[in-house]
Amino acid sequence: MLQDKRILLIVGGGIAAFKALELIRRLRERGAHVRCVLTQAGAQFVTALSLQSLSEDKVYTDMFSLTDESEMGHIQLSRQADLLVVVPATANLMARMASGMADDLASTVLLATDKKVLIVPAMNVRMWTHAATQANLATLKARGVEVVGPVEGAMACNEFGLGRMVEPNDIVAAIEAALSPQARPLAGRRAIVTSGPTREAIDPVRYISNQSSGKQGHAIAAALARLGAETILVSGPVSQPDPVGVRMVKINTAQEMLAATLAALPADIAVCAAAVADWRVAQRPNAKIKKALYGPPPRFELVANPDILATISKGDVARPKLIVGFAAETEAMLDNAQAKRKRKGCDWIVANDVSPAMGTFGSDSNTVHLLSDAGIESWPTMTKVAVAEQLAQRIAQHFQQAAE
Ligand code: PMT
Repeated sequence: MLQDKRILLIVGGGIAAFKALELIRRLRERGAHVRCVLTQAGAQFVTALSLQSLSEDKVYTDMFSLTDESEMGHIQLSRQADLLVVVPATANLMARMASGMADDLASTVLLATDKKVLIVPAMNVRMWTHAATQANLATLKARGVEVVGPVEGAMACNEFGLGRMVEPNDIVAAIEAALSPQARPLAGRRAIVTSGPTREAIDPVRYISNQSSGKQGHAIAAALARLGAETILVSGPVSQPDPVGVRMVKINTAQEMLAATLAALPADIAVCAAAVADWRVAQRPNAKIKKALYGPPPRFELVANPDILATISKGDVARPKLIVGFAAETEAMLDNAQAKRKRKGCDWIVANDVSPAMGTFGSDSNTVHLLSDAGIESWPTMTKVAVAEQLAQRIAQHFQQAAE
């Protein structure tokens, strides 16, 4: 897909710049030509010689170099590329891009280009969440700049949070997607995915939950994002990494999941893969319940949790155009799933057998059946990533057919 594509890689000044070296290798392995522009700040982190050795091309650093201008003017530099990629896109570089500055070679090239630009932000979490950076981000997105990341994680500054640059393989996937719009049939669509378990507190230290790992829901969110959908992932507590290119909303309880899902509307697509706890404890004490030495164990009155799938399918809300539920069944799977689809009012339901012998919760594979008005499709056992990929493709087909 990247064979003979020309990537102009603009290397900014951040600690994540070292990942640009790995990125060049990955792009070259795929047959892409990589030409680098190194900012003055970027040169504090990686050398022009390393970039040149890996890209096997000249590295451009100086706007006023007579030699460079006679060989390749700064306007030509961007015009000859298929895609401009900024790695890492620092807060400073983003601000300069947003305000249209042209005070060095990188910013001038970015202002002069008529080609698609992909930025890969990396910065301290507070810099990322600052209103100024978020406003610059919104400006750049509104101008058509594509953005991949950042993700949550440990940072070089010993802090933890959103701001860590995505890994080179994820940047390669984003570059491939940016260069082949036909691979993004869901571009312009908005999707909400629920994933993982919910936790319903019994007291401040105990809770009711289930064994959902979030693997299936997270894979679906990642697959929809890869197809171009603006994807919001509402997730209960899981240890899965945040999927790349997805907006995360992390919650604990079913009530919080409902509120986050409603806040994310309107959407074209909703996929409810979360294993939401059906009940919560009616009265929750503020202190830990003491174990009585003698006497019966405590009894709890349970009340029903809101049903997120049913609420968005039937409720007084902006109903997504396509709503996909999951049915976790241990017996009479297809009958129960069909009844659930009708009862909850969703368009499609993905039935999966969660009996202990199947080991569906937490494992990497799933055996599912897709139930819709068109009938029942039984898919072979696949990895959860493959199930997600196939489901996302089916969703894309649905919208393509609806548009024809
Ligand atoms: O997370 P993994 O370890 O990868 O496992 C994946 C999975 C087994 C959790 C997933 O494939 C799955 O089946 N998710 C749905 C689990 C579930 O709660 O099923 P259910 O049959 O109880 O609920 C039916 C549907 O209603 C589901 O779409 C569920 O998200 C939704 N629901 C249920 C209750 C509730 N209060 N609100 C809801 O939205």
